[in-house]
Amino acid sequence: MKNAVIGLGLESSCDETSASIVADGKTVLSNEIVSQIDLHREYCGVVPEIASRAHLETINILIDRALSRAGIGFADLDYVSATARPGLIGSLLIALQSSKAISYAMGIPLIAVDHLEAHLYAPFLEKNMPAYPYIGLLISGGNTAIYRVAGIGLIETIGKTTDDAVGEAFDKVSKFLGLGYPGGPAIEKAAAMAVAKRVFLPKILPGPDDRRFSYSGIKTAVITHMKAHPDTDLNEIAYAFQERALEILVRRVFSAARDEKIANIVIAGGVAANGRLREMLRDESRPDENIIIASPLLCTDNAAMVCGLAYHYFISGKHDGLDCDVHARTALSSRS
Ligand code: KG4
Repeated sequence: MKNAVIGLGLESSCDETSASIVADGKTVLSNEIVSQIDLHREYCGVVPEIASRAHLETINILIDRALSRAGIGFADLDYVSATARPGLIGSLLIALQSSKAISYAMGIPLIAVDHLEAHLYAPFLEKNMPAYPYIGLLISGGNTAIYRVAGIGLIETIGKTTDDAVGEAFDKVSKFLGLGYPGGPAIEKAAAMAVAKRVFLPKILPGPDDRRFSYSGIKTAVITHMKAHPDTDLNEIAYAFQERALEILVRRVFSAARDEKIANIVIAGGVAANGRLREMLRDESRPDENIIIASPLLCTDNAAMVCGLAYHYFISGKHDGLDCDVHARTALSSRS
C-alpha cells in the first residue's frame, strides 16, 4: 500500500456510526459500522437526540478500530472525509466535526460529501465502474429517487417520490402489522413465508408511465385491508405489500433507462438489500442491460462509500474548508 492514496471516511447521517479506511478510492482496508437499531427499536423509528448522542459516544472508538484494522496510523492518511448532507443535523455534525479536527491536527485535506452520491458510489468498491452516464436508483429509509449520473458530482434527479420513501413505507407497514423494526428485513422475511402469494392490494400510480413514486397510498391500502379483513395472514399481506412496493421501482427504473437510452443501471441504498427486488430486476432486465448492485453490507449506511467517493474529489483538488457545514437536504440537482 506504499504508493496508494489512503483516506479515512466517517458516516453518522442517520442511525449508523461508521469509520472506514479506503485505498485509492477502491480497496476497503476496514469498514467499521455500529448500528443503533437496538436503541431506536422501541420507538419504531430513529429518535434524533438519541442518535446524535450515540454517534458521539461511538465515533472515536470506531476511528481507532478502523485505523488499527487497516494497520495504519493518522500519519498515513492523505485525506479525511465525512458525510455532510443530507441527514439529521445533530447526527451529521458528529462525523463532520470529527473529520475537521483530524484535518486540522494532521494538516490533511477535508472532503465533505453528499450521502446520496456516496450510496450511488458503493457498488464500485466491489465492481468496476461502467462508462458514464448511468441511471441510479436510490432507495432507502429517507429517499426514493432516480438519477442520471454523468460523472463524479454530475448528478441530475429525474424522478422521485411525491410522499414517503420506499424504506419508510416498509418500516411503517411493518410497525402497523407488528412485524418488527427495521421493517424492510422483517417484511421480506414474512413475505418469503407466504403460501397463497396473491397480490390483492391496488397498484401504485397505475396511470401513465411517469417517473414519480408514491408510497403513502399503499400504506393506507394495507391499513384499510387489515381493518376490513382482520384475519388476513400476516405473511400474505407482507407478500402483497412487498410485491406492490417493489414492482413500481422496477418499472420506473427500466422505463427511465430505456427512455434515456442508458444500459448501465446502479441500484443503491438500504432497500437494495432486498432479495426479491434483486430477483425482479434480474427477471425484467434485457440482455444488454447491466444491473449493478452492491453487496447487502455496502447497501446500508457505511463510511467506505463516503471515503471511496471522496477519493475522486481529493485527487481532482476539490477540497472543503474547515468552515463547511452540514445540511439536512441533498445538493443533488433536479431536472425541472
Ligand atoms: O440506506 P439505509 O441504511 O439508511 C437510510 O435510510 O439512509 O436504509 C434503511 C432502510 C430502512 O427503511 C429499512 O427498512 C430498509 O432500508 N431495508 C430494507 C431491507 N433492508 C433494509 N427494505 C426492504 N428489504 C430489505 N431487505
